[in-house]
Amino acid sequence: MVLDINAHRILIIDFGSQYTQLIARRVRELGVYCELHSFNINDAAIRKFAPKGIILAGGPESVYKTNSPCCPQAVFDLGVPVFGICYGMQIMAKQLGGKVESSRLRECGYARLNVVSKSRLLDGIEDHVDTDGMFSLDVWMSHGDIVTKMPKDFHVLASTTSCQIAGMFREEHCYYGVQFHPEVTHTKQGSRILSRFIFDICKCRALWTPLKIIEDTIISIRAKIGTDNVLLGLSGGVDSSVAAVLLHQAIGNQLTCMFIDNGLLRLHEGKQVMSMLTKHIGVNMIYVNAQDQFLNNLAGVSDPEKKRRIIGRTFIDVFDTQSSKLDNIKYLAQGTIYPDVIESSGSTSTKVNTIKSHHNVGGLPMVMNLKLIEPLRKLFKDEVRRLGLELGLPYEMVYRHPFPGPGLGVRILGDVKKEYVDLLRLADYIFIEELHKADWYYKVSQAFAVFQPLKSVSIVGDSRRYAWVLALRAVETIDFMTARWAHLPYELLETISGRIVNEIEDVSRVTYDVSNKPPATIEWE
Ligand code: XMP
Repeated sequence: MVLDINAHRILIIDFGSQYTQLIARRVRELGVYCELHSFNINDAAIRKFAPKGIILAGGPESVYKTNSPCCPQAVFDLGVPVFGICYGMQIMAKQLGGKVESSRLRECGYARLNVVSKSRLLDGIEDHVDTDGMFSLDVWMSHGDIVTKMPKDFHVLASTTSCQIAGMFREEHCYYGVQFHPEVTHTKQGSRILSRFIFDICKCRALWTPLKIIEDTIISIRAKIGTDNVLLGLSGGVDSSVAAVLLHQAIGNQLTCMFIDNGLLRLHEGKQVMSMLTKHIGVNMIYVNAQDQFLNNLAGVSDPEKKRRIIGRTFIDVFDTQSSKLDNIKYLAQGTIYPDVIESSGSTSTKVNTIKSHHNVGGLPMVMNLKLIEPLRKLFKDEVRRLGLELGLPYEMVYRHPFPGPGLGVRILGDVKKEYVDLLRLADYIFIEELHKADWYYKVSQAFAVFQPLKSVSIVGDSRRYAWVLALRAVETIDFMTARWAHLPYELLETISGRIVNEIEDVSRVTYDVSNKPPATIEWE
């Protein structure tokens, strides 16, 4: 019998915290399947999901305010262990009859947590033992509200100097709540605490491992596709490349990949992707040179959102025209990953406005009358990467910085012209090459150059040069939703800037972007 690798699963309820996805990733890292759903999930869906345990995640609201998010009743009726984290603990306290109030002191950052009761959650997990034999943990807190009265039959699990009920529990029901965040790495024992909940309390088994995911995905692809043919739009990014290799392993020559060169790629990118997947992996590949079509459609357009829409639409047109030449294609494959699903299905409860329209989520299948297959739909990026390595893709490809679907089109501010693309491509190449040389490439999450339609004066040799100003951007981030500008060494910036200005005649000046996200987005458009 085939093992169901999703059978031992945890449900995570999202109340809008930016850390919710992190909890899900931590659970997956431990080898257990989990899904993240908004607090709006209904009772029937929770029962149908049949989790072995539930984690109530954090959130930015106050549980005592009108219309603040509540927890579905099924969470407490199901009879499975429940672990409330931050807002999750507070909502558990409130809904089970306790009280939550605003704290006089906002507690944000490191805290020393004294463990005051013996529990299955924290027993034997400690960072310090003091002379009285009292255990304590180094944890990370971020809250302005506190539980002031626990629900009936709950006990205090842990305290800090400013938060008397920093943890609570009712052991016979396997209900636990903590005010701190075990999912962030600043909480040193965080992973052990999550592991304790998942394995010892929920009795999950670690069935969710890269090898098993690969085996399972291949079996389900084969079952779904049968003898039909599949077309995959390959961007060269890690997601679509991993999807290509997985599909290739599952259905071999029934898969055809189409790589559309939109003229907005990084230097040598098209060639590298083609060579990797055709020569090394043996995937059937069609290369479409649509550079002129994209650049013509973009001519004279400077509005960022219009540019994104044009690029997205042109992809669809090209894809449509080319795929109509292929016989017997029944499925369209996409490299959609779990965060795309979460964001587009609204399973995140944050009321996020559309800041930028990401062109590659959805779109294609609607116009094409093909059935959709998305083999990475349940996976986070780090899981996709692990699968990529397991499937034999080279490290440099799997850990390459992400590249946006609209490519250099959103890194050329305003009008996109071929001469700007060529210039930017070279500068970008130099930047990345120097980051590699200085061993900084993998220390930053994303790095690139930006073209600004702006000229300045410089002096080269004895002559005056009036040429373009380029910007460099490098950021460090975990989830790409927030990011810090990378503190690259001055010497490295100097080398990069020197090379760009010396090697590219049409550049007079290089600037470095020192903006964090928020407020600035990572891309400039
Ligand atoms: P922003 O600029 O929104 O970028 O802070 C966050 C991350 O998303 C990437 N990005 C995109 N990726 N299609 C994509 O596939 C897009 O339209 C798009 N726009 C931004 C960006 O490179 C960064 O990694």
